[in-house]
Amino acid sequence: MTMREKIEEVAARYPDQRSAIMPALLIAQKEHGHLPGPVLQEVADILGVQRIWVYELATFYTLFHTEPVGKFHLQLCDNISCMLCGSEDLLKHLQAVLRIKKGDTTPDGLFTLSTVECLGACEMAPVMQVGDDYHGNLDVTRINALLDGLR
Ligand code: FES
Repeated sequence: MTMREKIEEVAARYPDQRSAIMPALLIAQKEHGHLPGPVLQEVADILGVQRIWVYELATFYTLFHTEPVGKFHLQLCDNISCMLCGSEDLLKHLQAVLRIKKGDTTPDGLFTLSTVECLGACEMAPVMQVGDDYHGNLDVTRINALLDGLR
């Protein structure tokens, strides 16, 4: 099934095509890895909605990426529960071992490092999302083991 077919199938569930933008963007991002301008335009064309509506959502939510991201997107929560449990030190550690700043991708394209709002998993703070998986109760040792397992 093509991306267009998948989006059209999902969009058929919504009486207002504007409501289908988020699921359409998820489909497009899964297909392309990120959401550059031409892809946003394609999504708008398929749904028959204004491009600005698509752009607004794609640039507001951190789960969407308008720029390429690494094979593994490390999304470290920096909200209050995680911060109180040491996320600031973990961010410093990640930046040091990966030799990149927050928001950057390693030169080999393997890791992108971001901070994100609460992941809704405060009970296992500090938490980092990698792809679709959550990793909690993190410390430097666990971060190192996680990175070693991904390399
Ligand atoms: Fe980090 Fe909620 S504050 S998961």
